[in-house]
Amino acid sequence: MIKACVIGWPISHSRSPLIHGYWLKKYGIDGSYSRHPVEPTSLAGFIGGLDGAGFAGCNVTIPHKEAVFNLVERADETTERLGAVNTVYLRHGKVLGTNTDGEGFINSLRQHAPSLRLAGSRAMVLGAGGASLAVVNAILEQGAEGVVVANRTREKAQQLRNRFGLRVVPIEWHEIPDRLASCSLLVNTTSLGMTGQPELDIDLSQLSQDTIVTDIVYTPLRTKLLEQAAVRGNIVVEGLGMLLHQAVRGFSLWFGVTPVVTEELHDLIARDIDPDFSP
Ligand SMILES: NC(=O)c1ccc[n+]([C@@H]2O[C@H](COP(=O)([O-])OP(=O)(O)OC[C@H]3O[C@@H](n4cnc5c(N)ncnc54)[C@H](OP(=O)(O)O)[C@@H]3O)[C@@H](O)[C@H]2O)c1
Repeated sequence: MIKACVIGWPISHSRSPLIHGYWLKKYGIDGSYSRHPVEPTSLAGFIGGLDGAGFAGCNVTIPHKEAVFNLVERADETTERLGAVNTVYLRHGKVLGTNTDGEGFINSLRQHAPSLRLAGSRAMVLGAGGASLAVVNAILEQGAEGVVVANRTREKAQQLRNRFGLRVVPIEWHEIPDRLASCSLLVNTTSLGMTGQPELDIDLSQLSQDTIVTDIVYTPLRTKLLEQAAVRGNIVVEGLGMLLHQAVRGFSLWFGVTPVVTEELHDLIARDIDPDFSP
């Protein structure tokens, strides 16, 4: 039996066991995927003990992504750039780390907004926290000409420019409305709009009808930002797609099968988030 798990502190909110459990059953794999609350002081011991405990690897969530980056023996180039790991796997006794958030974001856009061309385009990203890092890097890796970043704490947007270079353009929050017109993609990576958090309230009057709008927040499934953009006729992409697509590579690394993000899986997780969800 192949074992994998997700670790975080706390971890009870994680939907990863539901996602991987669905695929294990669908592909008839003799495996398990559990969740483990791991305190920061126990993290190094847990990662070092994965092999001994019979795990093929694990997912890593808040607040451990950066700490685990420093615990793995090797990471790929993208992960080195991000300095954060969300997927750990074992190869020949070595503990390796990777980050699948960026590809989760891009593959969700590919699925739900296939007309989007990021190469040579401009994007606007709201937020400069941990998730923003992966999103901004992924957009740049797709060949975008520029990524405008607005964040409450401007210093953190500036840090993204220091990390990724001059294609990242930090702006003040109040500049958002005027900058929107030239963007092919608008992404919210702040926690604003999430259930229990204040709403994200921005003026969309200058948003072009061609701009694709996405929110990586997935509780609620459709945030106010997406509702407002959809009313204006824009194509919108919900955050749940990113969560599902980021899980694909981990499953493949641990269990040896590349799983498909099906509508059935989407609806299963959507119903877990919102019991009133109907396809
Ligand atoms: N769909 C997915 O797969 C996926 C993956 C990862 C994360 N997420 C979601 O993305 C969101 C952000 O996660 P994270 O890990 O990046 O969190 P984080 O590192 O804590 O960053 C939070 C971001 O939100 C901003 N923010 C928070 N409260 C604000 C307020 N009152 N006004 C203005 N800005 C505010 C922060 O700005 P400051 O820098 O000024 O504090 C920062 O930019 C969460 O809702 C998370 O669930 C989704």
